[in-house]
Amino acid sequence: MRLIYMDHAATTPLDPVVREGMLPWLGSDSGFGNPASATHGYGRAASAAVDHARQQVASLLQAPAEGVVFTGSATEAINLAILGRLRFVMQRNRGRHIITCATEHSAVLGACEQAQREGAELTVLPVDGAGRLSLSALRSALRDDTALVSLMLVNNETGVVHDIPAVAAALRDHPARLHVDVTQAIGKLPVDVSALGADLLSLSAHKFHGPKGIGALWRCPRPRLRLQPLQFGGGQEWGERPGTQAVHQIVGLGLACEQAARHLGSEGPRLQALRDRLEQGLWEAGIPLQRNGGVPRAPHISNLSFPGVHGEALLAEVSSTLAIAAGSACTSRSARGSHVLRAMGVGDAGLLSAFRFSFGRDSNADDIDEAVAVLSRGVRRLLSFSPLGDEVETHD
Ligand SMILES: Cc1ncc(COP(=O)(O)O)c(C=O)c1O
Repeated sequence: MRLIYMDHAATTPLDPVVREGMLPWLGSDSGFGNPASATHGYGRAASAAVDHARQQVASLLQAPAEGVVFTGSATEAINLAILGRLRFVMQRNRGRHIITCATEHSAVLGACEQAQREGAELTVLPVDGAGRLSLSALRSALRDDTALVSLMLVNNETGVVHDIPAVAAALRDHPARLHVDVTQAIGKLPVDVSALGADLLSLSAHKFHGPKGIGALWRCPRPRLRLQPLQFGGGQEWGERPGTQAVHQIVGLGLACEQAARHLGSEGPRLQALRDRLEQGLWEAGIPLQRNGGVPRAPHISNLSFPGVHGEALLAEVSSTLAIAAGSACTSRSARGSHVLRAMGVGDAGLLSAFRFSFGRDSNADDIDEAVAVLSRGVRRLLSFSPLGDEVETHD
């Protein structure tokens, strides 16, 4: 039986156009040069390919290309943004305070906690039941020594979108810099550096049909936003991420950005229609459910709890047909359940039965209809055994 992939927020299949474009840079004929080898054509060709990819990333972000620093993942880009900036400012006594939010990805929370161990002070803002941040709480948290505010554009578990332009406006007369994790937004929402008002952005190719193992940090190049590198060695990537550049991966990221820009206008509405079809379909099938996360929401993620049903039991029912994430793939190892849903005040029953459905370019309406049928069957069967079954109201 076909396994329907609905876990695109975890990773996406590689776009064949991207794969084709990467292949020459994996060959032994000419595409293997080191971009730092400026003395011969092999190196110069590789360097030109890296420059071209840098331009492709920048044009998706509508930003100058000198701001793009290639990294190995969004996690690395985030660590470079947070630790790189905090170490730089703390060494110069120009601030030590970071503001972030309880529903951020573990890469952001982990990097902030590391900065805290190194002497930074951290404020973690709460969210409301819909996953939204309060701007007045952000304004009250700002201090004279706040050096960095780090927030995501799209939440990876719920799809909830933070109002980043409003955050940037709140910081306008403050020296704090704004880092935005746009990992889940690329290819689904427009990500324009000036419209967001961001100083730093992090992203990862594998979330939008590019290869794994390559990400980028964009940091304001004019005037250059200074970072303390996390590694030391060669001068690649302005010395901020030294090490021989992975040309095939970088080419893949560039092409994935080009494809994301090309498909953006049609993919956003198409993914939203698929997401709504799933939620509407389950509703019409009379399945009791609770949607986790309010609006605005990105189009490709739906986080649903099925009250009265144990998530693991439902997963056992559906996992031969549906590839879905219980809570978040990134946090499913946590015994306490999703930190994002907990921060939103979702209770134990909601946490235990929460699933994330996430869609991508290869998702289609047939997949959704099949998912609705399989989930409805599974939930009904489990409710019929459950002592709570009679108490959970179904609707027709
Ligand atoms: C919002 C967000 N930020 C960061 C990351 C980390 O990305 P990577 O896998 O490239 O390290 C993820 C991946 O799950 C994510 O969803």
